[in-house]
Formats: sequence, structure tokens, C-alpha cells
Amino acid sequence: MEKIIKRTEREREYKEEMESFFSEASGSISDKLNNFTRFVDRQTLATFLYKYELFKKVVDVQGSILEFGVFRGGGSFTFAQLSTILEPYNYQRRIIGFDTFGGFPAVSEIDDLSDPDISPQKGDFSTHEKFYEELMQNIGLFNMNRFLNNVEKLMFVKGDINVTFPRFLEENKHLVVSLAYFDLDIYLPTKNTLELILPRIPKGGIIAFDELNNPDWPGETQAVIEAVGINNLRLKRVTFEPCRSYCVVE
Ligand SMILES: C[S@@+](CC[C@H](N)C(=O)[O-])C[C@H]1O[C@@H](n2cnc3c(N)ncnc32)[C@H](O)[C@@H]1O
Repeated sequence: MEKIIKRTEREREYKEEMESFFSEASGSISDKLNNFTRFVDRQTLATFLYKYELFKKVVDVQGSILEFGVFRGGGSFTFAQLSTILEPYNYQRRIIGFDTFGGFPAVSEIDDLSDPDISPQKGDFSTHEKFYEELMQNIGLFNMNRFLNNVEKLMFVKGDINVTFPRFLEENKHLVVSLAYFDLDIYLPTKNTLELILPRIPKGGIIAFDELNNPDWPGETQAVIEAVGINNLRLKRVTFEPCRSYCVVE
């Protein structure tokens, strides 16, 4: 099947022009952040709104929110901000993101698209070597502006999830999960993590996926087929976002 074109020339131009416009626009950084809708692209905004829709669906479901595959942290921070805004007294809901922060530690054969230009490679999505420390500083700032900030809201677990997640579950026997957000992109960690997380999600909880039915990322669909079976899931989507899907545990 034809692969999804990642970005058109026009989209690349838009990105570049917007970046230089943003850096040259008048006003302080705070002015620009406060008016972020002037600068942010609609795709990012749609993804943000999608996460808001998911959050609203689990706001009355017990359990923490786990994001598998964090990259630069925008998703986990979205959920943490939403929890702070929509349920300031729910100090029990933790947002926990898992990533190597060094990109894919390995890629399976099934993820390989046999095209060096688009096939995922070991190390893709790696971040700056001090990125984890930067995130910790970021959490500190986030905590300065929320209620009940004596209780941790947002945390990150660094390392290969195939190793860190079984250990994390062992160390957190109390953990219940209201929303498991899968964005690891590739086969093996998705399969392993999905199998382990299922017993922790109550009815009404949500499992969300970023890359199902995506010819660029066959590993995620394969992992779901093997771990739960696609036909056991009522996979839903929203009208304004093309790639993402979710199911409510029944
Ligand atoms: C598409 S990015 C995640 C994007 C992020 N959810 C967001 O909203 O911006 C995929 C991430 O999965 C992580 N990842 C993939 N395999 C992993 C593994 N075995 N252990 C930990 N992280 C992994 C990669 O490091 C990468 O940052």
C-alpha cells in the first residue's frame, strides 16, 4: 500500500515561515505563549483537542494516566495540565510518561518498511542528552502553578519500557489506570506493555493508540492483534483528527 506522505513541500514551507515569523514577531515570549493560537499549526491544536476529549471521558474514572512514548513531553504535559484544570482536588490521579528519551532502543523486522528513507531506525526520536533533566526542571515550574503541589502529579520513567514497565508495575501494586495512551509506534514494546497494562484498566477506562491502520507503522497494529485482537475492541475516532483511535474498556 502507498505510504502516507509525511510532509508536502507546502507544509514544509509553512513550518519554516511560521518559525521565522514566530521568532521575529513583536512581544515578549510570554506575549507569544499567551497568544499561542496565532502561531501553532492546526494539526497540533487538533491533537491537543483530541487529548482533551479523551481526558473528559475518563474524568470520572478512577486511575492514573499513562503515556507510553513521550518524546518531548507535550502529550504528558497536556494530560497533567488538564488534570490540574479540570479536577484540581484529584491528587490521586498521576500522569506517568515512559520513554528512553534516547529514541527507539531497537526495531523489529515487522516495523521495517524496507525503505531506508522511511523505515524506523534504532535511535529515531532521540532527544538531547540532558533532556530528562530538562523535563525535571519543567515539572518543577509546572508545580509552581498548581493546587496541592505537595503531591506529585507528573512523572517520567526513563529507560527501555520492556525493562522499566514490568519493574514499575511490581513496585506499584496499587496502580489502577484510567487512560493508557500508546504512542511507542513500534511492535515489541507496544505488545509487551499492552499485555501488562490490561489487568490494571477498569471498565470505562480508555486505551488509546496513535498509529493503528497506518501503513507507515505496521508494528502497532500487529501488536494489538497479538495482545488483544482488533475485533475485541470497539475502535473509535473523532472527526477532526485522522490518525488517532481509542476504545473504552467494556
Ligand atoms: C512518536 S514518539 C512519542 C510522541 C509523544 N507521545 C508526543 O505526544 O509527542 C515515540 C516515542 O516512543 C519511544 N519508545 C519507543 N520504543 C520504546 C521503548 N522500548 N522504551 C521506551 N520508549 C520507547 C521513543 O523513544 C519515542 O520518543
